[in-house]
Amino acid sequence: MCGIIGYVGKEANALDVLLKGLSSLEYRGYDSVGVAMFDRMHRLSTVKCAGRVAELEKRVQGSGDSYCGIGHTRWATHGAPSDINSHPHGSANLQIVHNGIIENYACLKKELTELGYTFVSDTDTEVAAKLLDYYYMKRRGHFDAVCETIERLEGSYALAIVFADDSGTIYAARKDSPLIIGIGEDANYIASDITALLFKTRDYYSLEDGDIACVKADCISIYNKGIEVKREKQTAKWDHVAAEKGGYDHFMLKEIHEEPEAIIRTLRPRIKDMLPDFSADKLDEDALKRISRLHIVACGTAMHAGLIGKFMFEKYAGLPVSVEIASEFRYNDPIIDENDLVIIVSQSGETADSLAALRLAKEKGASTLGIVNVIGSTIANEAHSVLYTYAGPEIAVASTKAYSVQTSLLTLLAIRVSLLRSRIDEKEAREFTHELYVDAPRAIKEMLERASEIKALAGNFAKSEDLFFIGRGKDYYLSCEGSLKLKEISYIHSEAYAAGELKHGTISLIDDGVPVIALATESRLYGKMESNIREVKSRGAEVTLITNAESEFKSADHVIDILPISERLAFLPVATVLQLIAYFTSTERGCDVDKPRNLAKSVTVE
Ligand code: M6R
Repeated sequence: MCGIIGYVGKEANALDVLLKGLSSLEYRGYDSVGVAMFDRMHRLSTVKCAGRVAELEKRVQGSGDSYCGIGHTRWATHGAPSDINSHPHGSANLQIVHNGIIENYACLKKELTELGYTFVSDTDTEVAAKLLDYYYMKRRGHFDAVCETIERLEGSYALAIVFADDSGTIYAARKDSPLIIGIGEDANYIASDITALLFKTRDYYSLEDGDIACVKADCISIYNKGIEVKREKQTAKWDHVAAEKGGYDHFMLKEIHEEPEAIIRTLRPRIKDMLPDFSADKLDEDALKRISRLHIVACGTAMHAGLIGKFMFEKYAGLPVSVEIASEFRYNDPIIDENDLVIIVSQSGETADSLAALRLAKEKGASTLGIVNVIGSTIANEAHSVLYTYAGPEIAVASTKAYSVQTSLLTLLAIRVSLLRSRIDEKEAREFTHELYVDAPRAIKEMLERASEIKALAGNFAKSEDLFFIGRGKDYYLSCEGSLKLKEISYIHSEAYAAGELKHGTISLIDDGVPVIALATESRLYGKMESNIREVKSRGAEVTLITNAESEFKSADHVIDILPISERLAFLPVATVLQLIAYFTSTERGCDVDKPRNLAKSVTVE
C-alpha cells in the first residue's frame, strides 16, 4: 500500500531523509514515487514519477539543500501508475500526499469543477488537494483550511500537507489509515509506519482518527475536533538493524531464519513454570472461561494462522470456533453476541477489512482480542484486549515469521483456555507448553539447516505453471498457507485442497507431471493420505511428501521428513519448509521475492 514520509528540521537534509524513508517504505509495495520539498529560498517544488525510488533519485539529483519536505510511495487505486497520477498533488499554494481512498471524490470533483478547478490526474487525491486549495483561497488560514477539508472527505485518509507560504510546517491528518509523528532532535518526522523512521528515531506519536497534527522542527501540536490533545509517546522496540537484510539475499529469507527466536520471544513472557500465564497481558480469564463461541477473523496468512488456532481451540479447549475472512465477515451480518469472543489476527494491525471486522464485532457486543505484531497499531488500540506477537518488523510482503508466531501464540492461548475449562490437566498442559516453547523452535532450526535439500526440490517446481497442495486436518490448513505463499511470490498457479475433496472435481486437473505437494503429519490420517497420494500418482502427478512418518508412505516420488516433534506441533517446522519451498521457487524463477507484483505489505484500503 501507499507510504508517507515527511521531514522538517534544523538541518538541511530533507532530501536524504525523504529518499531513505521512501526506500524503507518500498516493502509495502508501490508503483510510483514522489517528493515535494522547499529549497533554501523557501520555494516549494515537486518531483514525481512512475517506477522505483531509484528512478526518483536520478530525477532529484542536484536539488540542493532542504529543511522540509514530504514524500510518497503510491500503490495505484484511482488511475493507472503514471508520472501524473503519482503523489504529491496540489496547486501553486500547497502539495499533499495521501494514503487511503476518498470515497466521495466524484461528487467533490464535480463541485470543484463547477467552481472553475481543473484536474490533470485520475486520482481521488488530487480532488482532496484542490478542495484544500479552495478552502485555503478563502483565506481561512492553514489549519482552518485543513479542518474544513477533512470535514468534507468521506472514506479513509492519512494526509501530509505542506503550504507554499510556510516552509517550516507539515500538517498531518488521519482517518482509518495509519499515520505517526516521529520525534527527533531538532527535527520531527511523519510516516505511515515506524519502520520508515527507524534510521532516525524510535520515538513517535500515533495519530488517532480525526487528529490533525501541526509539525515543526521544534514542536508538535495535535488537535482533535479543534481541541489540542495529548497522545502518548511510544517507543519502537525494533531498531534499524532489525529492519535491514543482515547479510541475507532477501528479507523473506532473513525473516524465515528468525522464526525460532521470534517464537521464543513471543512465548517467553507468557510462560511461568512451563505453564501458560497471560497475567501480564491482563486478559480477563473469567471471560475466557465463560465464552461460548470463538470467531477468528483475519485476512490472508493471518487467517490461515487462525485455522490452526481453530484446530487447537476445538480439539483441546472444546470450544466451537469459526474462522472467517475479514472482508466477508464485515458484510455478512455475522451472528455474534456478548457471549462470543472475536479474535482479530493481524501482523500490521492496520488491515482495513480486519479493522472493520473488529469494529463490527464490538458494535454487536462481543469481546474482542487483537493478536497483533505492530505495537500501537489501530487494531491493537481498538480491541478490548491485545496480545502482541514479538516477531520484530516483517518487511517482506510474504508473511512468514508472523505466521509462526501467530500460530504459536494461538496455541499457547488454547492451552490456557483448555486448562481454564478443565479440559486438560496441568501435567498435559506442561508437556504441551514445553513442546511448543522448546521442541518446536528446535525442530524449525533443524529444517532451516536443511535448506539446500529443500532448494534442490524447489528447482523442479520452478518449471511448473500449476501446483497442488493436499492435506487433511491441520495439514489442509497448512496447505492453504503453503499455496498462498507459493503463488504470491512465484506467480505459479497453485491450489490447496482437502485431500478427500479432490475426487469431487479437482482431480480432473491432475495430469502427467503435475506437481502435488502432500502434507501428512497426523497419524490418524496417514492411511487416508497414502490413498490420496496413490490417486494422484495413478493420474500422472509427481508427488512430494512432507511428513513426520516417512516409513508409513510408499508412493511419493520425493519425501521431506520432519524431524521428531510431537505430532500436534509438526505444523510449525512444516510451515517453515513450505515457506522455503516458495522462497527458492521464486528465486529460481527470477521473481522479485520481497516485493511481488501487484501486492502490498499492509492492505489499508478495502
Ligand atoms: O497485516 P495483516 O496480517 O493483517 O495482513 C493480512 C494479509 O494481508 C497478509 O497476511 C497477506 O496475505 C500476506 N501477503 C501473505 O503473505
